[in-house]
Amino acid sequence: MASPFITEAPVSYDGVVIEAPPDDSFMDPAGYFSQRLFDLEQRVVFPRSWVFVGDLSQLRSPGDYVTETIGNDPVMVVRGSDGELRAFVNVCPHRASTLVEGAGNCGRTVVCPYHGWTFHLDGRLAATPHPRGFAEPVDRSAYGLREVRVDVWLQFVFVNVSGDAPALHEWLYPAPEQLANHSLEAATRVYELDDEVNANWKVMMDNAFCDYHLEFVHENTLGRFADVSTLREDIWTYTGRLTSQWGEEQLSQTDVLPALAATNSYGSVAFGVFPNWFIAAFPNGGCSLMWWNPISLDKSRARVWNYSPDPGADARSDFEMLKAVQAEDYAICEKVQKGLRSRFYRPGPQHYLELRVRGHQQRLMKMLAGAIRRGDC
Ligand code: FES
Ligand SMILES: [Fe+2]
Repeated sequence: MASPFITEAPVSYDGVVIEAPPDDSFMDPAGYFSQRLFDLEQRVVFPRSWVFVGDLSQLRSPGDYVTETIGNDPVMVVRGSDGELRAFVNVCPHRASTLVEGAGNCGRTVVCPYHGWTFHLDGRLAATPHPRGFAEPVDRSAYGLREVRVDVWLQFVFVNVSGDAPALHEWLYPAPEQLANHSLEAATRVYELDDEVNANWKVMMDNAFCDYHLEFVHENTLGRFADVSTLREDIWTYTGRLTSQWGEEQLSQTDVLPALAATNSYGSVAFGVFPNWFIAAFPNGGCSLMWWNPISLDKSRARVWNYSPDPGADARSDFEMLKAVQAEDYAICEKVQKGLRSRFYRPGPQHYLELRVRGHQQRLMKMLAGAIRRGDC
């Protein structure tokens, strides 16, 4: 069957074939090593997508903010004095310093650390120190913060820098409908991981969306629970879904949400969302988020947040298990990063538990090929 993602002829960029991988295989390995393609991904893919930046527990009060780098653009999301959530490019319009770092509360204004320009929480420029030193009075209306698009699903906050991605609900389809009974808005973040891995971000994504490796890479951890015969994968325009049944051992340790028990939903439902986000929802109302950001051509940042319906419960053993699983994934990603470079490697055949990998690669190639063809990159 022809790919639903690309119908036009392939283009080439810096020697990389920008083509949806055939339905039974994977993308051009050269795409993991081209600095020019990496730069193009930063300019095109991340800004034109909805990118996860944090959750509402970080943004409760006026002045609460989170930051993220989306492609080449530092961005911030801040709760305004009026209670509104707004997103801005986190760059000072004077001489380009970033304004705030990490996450926290910036008080009633955003003050640039370089020369003290001060902004209201709605982005308007409030003050420029020593104003008489400018040849002309600074036109405050011309130097506000650049606002970008922000939206929220449940408690999860996303930013679209370009402003023209489809609506967030559409981007996440069909996750909002399918996770509606999981009570995820009530789950609390209980622990997190933040690591650097020596692999291209696409290697990380390929692995995140791969379910063929579970009983091998995770033989002593997840693999003990995963019954591969119960795993199912499906893909949509921007998402890919994995469903898996829970075994007796897992179900005996947890309460299934009544709304899910009523429908016999005794499994996990996980969605990978283009370009770099993953959510796994468990039948007890907990969930895991994972996301991966490019740092450079061969280095990525991997983050995991785990949420529980019962934040008081002892989650240490879960945390240890998660750390072990992540370490297993990082190690295999670094091996793949090495092997992809060999001139003797040609992409092999795709297993049905790698459908989401190909789906991700096809979305990526479609977006890049479209931008190259139109010349708007
Ligand atoms: S760069 Fe921000 S005040 Fe100068
Ligand atoms: Fe894995």
